[in-house]
Amino acid sequence: MSENNGIANAPLRVYITGSCEGLVEIVDALRIHGGIELVGLTEEVPEAASALTGGHLDAVIHATRGSEFPRDAYSAIREYTRAPVILLCSGECSGILAEALDAEVADVIPLPQLTENIVFAIRKACQAEKRAGTTTSHMGKVATVFSPKGGIGKTCVSTNLAATFAKYHKERTLLLDLDLQFGDAAIMLGLEPDKTIYDLVVAPGELDTEKLAGYTTQHPCGLDVLPAPIRPEDAELVTEGKLARLLEVARASYDMIIVDTSPFFHGPMLATLDRTDLLLLLCGLDIPTIKNVRLGLQTLELLSFPNERIRVILNRANTNVGLKRSEVEETLRTKVHVELPSDRAVPMAVNRGKPVALAEPGADFSKAVRDLADTIAARTTKAKAPKGQKPAKEPRQSLISKLRT
Ligand SMILES: Nc1ncnc2c1ncn2[C@@H]1O[C@H](COP(=O)(O)OP(=O)(O)OP(=O)(O)O)[C@@H](O)[C@H]1O
Ligand SMILES: [Mg+2]
Repeated sequence: MSENNGIANAPLRVYITGSCEGLVEIVDALRIHGGIELVGLTEEVPEAASALTGGHLDAVIHATRGSEFPRDAYSAIREYTRAPVILLCSGECSGILAEALDAEVADVIPLPQLTENIVFAIRKACQAEKRAGTTTSHMGKVATVFSPKGGIGKTCVSTNLAATFAKYHKERTLLLDLDLQFGDAAIMLGLEPDKTIYDLVVAPGELDTEKLAGYTTQHPCGLDVLPAPIRPEDAELVTEGKLARLLEVARASYDMIIVDTSPFFHGPMLATLDRTDLLLLLCGLDIPTIKNVRLGLQTLELLSFPNERIRVILNRANTNVGLKRSEVEETLRTKVHVELPSDRAVPMAVNRGKPVALAEPGADFSKAVRDLADTIAARTTKAKAPKGQKPAKEPRQSLISKLRT
């Protein structure tokens, strides 16, 4: 079980597949229920493949109208996730029970039913799963560094943040370079990797922890790096499905996964957003960047990406260019959560292929990144969901399917 991605008392993350009479009313009730986050909704299970993969769900509800056990749908769900499955049946369900028991379905619920009964069944299934410890017991957190504008400092922030987690927090940390065409995280860290994410995704055989370890390159500070493909044309082989599986395995192997990105919402990026615990959205003090960040925030809202998982970071915040933080906040209509200073030590370290956070721990930028790492660590391990917090206004389809509709 995802343990709510490390956020205690957060709503349980549930995905719904299938269809049956009365499902619409249940969806409406669950989407406003404070204890449940409806991650998505897809009638056909194979269409939900990428949304179900990744170990991020606490439970799956499958709705069925028939009087027979939905064998194919159930095995398809099991291919993608080990989260407990609850069957909702609008028809006569006594013929389903024996096979459901054999298949280790968590619960079979005939409809109509009170919402609270369904929520109780979800909670019970999640608790049973936790006690049995059958699902991945260790789940690392995913922090994605993004900006809809190039050259704003994504790679500087992600490499230094990752190095800080590895060196000072002693966390098992993976830096994943998702700037698939022109990624330069490895160069900034002074690494010359033999293998990249491309080699990993084209290698035969099932991806597991051991295989992932064979494709990462270790920095002397202990940070593991999975670099971007060497040739831009290889990027397209890193599909959203591969990314979903990669993050599932990575979360079982690492405490912290930092993802560097390109300025685009492509498929693998959306698969990553689906599994992101904290999105660090970088902004700068110039009008074109602020305009793009505002558009980026609007896109994230359209995708129903939870607002409480976004942290707006103003890079080079102390640059005197006639724009103030308050004006940025007014234009973005959101708070700037963190400021990072402009610091000469940063480009100097970049040119030496050393993360400034390690090479010059006393530099202003390094100190600010350490503070940011402390905030992230505190948030992803201790934060509680605000009381009575409601999930997104609409049930979230997977981000990928949403973009395609
Ligand atoms: N806080 C800072 N102080 C000084 N220089 C900075 C700072 N942040 C970034 N830079 C400089 O800006 C340059 C661009 O940063 P970086 O490569 O991290 O941006 P990016 O958003 O990853 O770009 P791209 O979209 O091309 O991947 C770097 O070479 C770095 O020297
Ligand atoms: Mg970059």
